[in-house]
This record gives sequence, structure tokens and C-alpha cells, in this order.
Amino acid sequence: MSNQILQVQSLDASYGESKVLFDVSIAVQERQVVGCVGRNGAGKSTLLKSIAGFLQPRAGTITSEGVDLVGRTAFAIAGMGIKYVPQDKKVFSDLTVRENLELGSYASGDYNWDPVLVFFPKLKVLMDRKAGWLSGGERQMLMIGRAILGRPKLLLIDEPTEGLAPSIVSHLKDVFRELRKSAALVIVEQNLPMICAIADKIYALNEGRLMAELTEREQITPEVCEPYL
Ligand SMILES: Nc1ncnc2c1ncn2[C@@H]1O[C@H](COP(=O)(O)OP(=O)(O)OP(=O)(O)O)[C@@H](O)[C@H]1O
Ligand SMILES: [Mg+2]
Repeated sequence: MSNQILQVQSLDASYGESKVLFDVSIAVQERQVVGCVGRNGAGKSTLLKSIAGFLQPRAGTITSEGVDLVGRTAFAIAGMGIKYVPQDKKVFSDLTVRENLELGSYASGDYNWDPVLVFFPKLKVLMDRKAGWLSGGERQMLMIGRAILGRPKLLLIDEPTEGLAPSIVSHLKDVFRELRKSAALVIVEQNLPMICAIADKIYALNEGRLMAELTEREQITPEVCEPYL
């Protein structure tokens, strides 16, 4: 279907000679929250990197609303409203929070400050601080704030709650619930209670292959997902 926000079909990806993803297919509809779970090294980050244009696939297709993403640069894909929040939470330490946030709209040239400040009021008081001084939680707020500044249609978020305090995890969960009103989300997550609470669908990866696609509400539980971790 061409109106799908994301369709990945039979994707193979590799780093040099080392094959990492084998025949992976996923689909994301408008305003869906899609979780991706799996053990360390399963290929979850590689899947997001391939969609975001940071890694060119070996085979397969990736389309968004009928538009082919394969072969486009990461910059072009970001400009289409597909925003990627990498796992490593790297910020530009010597730039201020405001400058870091503004980089999020560099590709699209569209600065929609309201949701960023409504979801993350704490960033308001940190605006002129160097990003290198932020705590882990504040840094994740900055990363997600940066991604939503440019009115994304699809957010690809890699392990947003990794290493964060429960109160921040709970805040992010609320933010994702709000964000889905205007965008689709693909979230890689090891925190099963958190992802099961918000996802409409969960894909489980293992050793680069899709092991399960959970779509029924009663299947989307930590107990069902646990064996894939
Ligand atoms: N830049 C790279 N060069 C070579 N191999 C890589 C690179 N990045 C990842 N890999 C390998 O690809 C495989 C999949 O890695 P990936 O980072 O996608 O897994 P992951 O599911 O995100 O794991 P984690 O839960 O630890 O984040 C692993 O075997 C990893 O060692
Ligand atoms: Mg990863």
C-alpha cells in the first residue's frame, strides 16, 4: 500500500563482508507505534540505520508513502520528515542546547518549537547551557526534542530509555503517547513493560532475522516478548 508511512521489504544489510540483516520486512501505518525487540547484536540498530539512510542496504526495498528511500542520503530522508534518534545519545557538547535542537530542523528548515517545549519544559531552562553538561535524561530529552522540532511524520528511536531513571522512562512513555497523535513511531526498546504499554505492534529480531510479528493486543505483553530478549 502506497499510503504506508513505512514499508521495508526483504531487507538485507551488511557491514563490509559481514551480513547482519537477512530478509527483514516490516510495515508501519500512520500514527502507529511499532516496537522492535531483540537481544544484543540482533540487528535492531542496523535496521533503523538502514531506514534512516546511514547504511545502504544490500538488497530489499524501503518505501515511505510509495517513495523509495534506498539510495537517498540521510539528509534527504530527514528532509522528508523521517527523523532518527540514534542509540548513542551523542550531542554536540560545545554547542548550547538551543543550537543542538536547531540542528534537528537543518534538513527540513521548519522550526516547530511548541511541542518541544510542552513535552520537555526542562529544556527551556537549559537552553543556553552547553549540551556537554547535560545528564543522561536531559540528553535524551534533547535528542527527542531535536527530532520533533521539524514536524516529523515518522520517528525512529533507538533504545530511548536505556540507563534512565524510572521517572524519566515514565515521562518518555507519556511523550510517545502524545507524539503518536501526529506521527508514527518505531521504537527499539529492551524495556518490555514500557514498549508493551504503548505499542500497536512488535517485531522481534534475532541474529538478523525476524522471529515474530505481534499484532494482537493480548500478544503484546512482556511475557510473550521475554523469550526474544
Ligand atoms: N559499524 C559496524 N561495523 C561492523 N559490524 C557492526 C557495526 N555495527 C554493528 N555491527 C554488528 O552488526 C550486528 C548487529 O548490530 P546492531 O548494532 O544492529 O545490533 P543491536 O540489535 O542494535 O544490538 P544492541 O542491543 O547491543 O544495541 C552485531 O553483530 C554487531 O557487532
Ligand atoms: Mg542497538
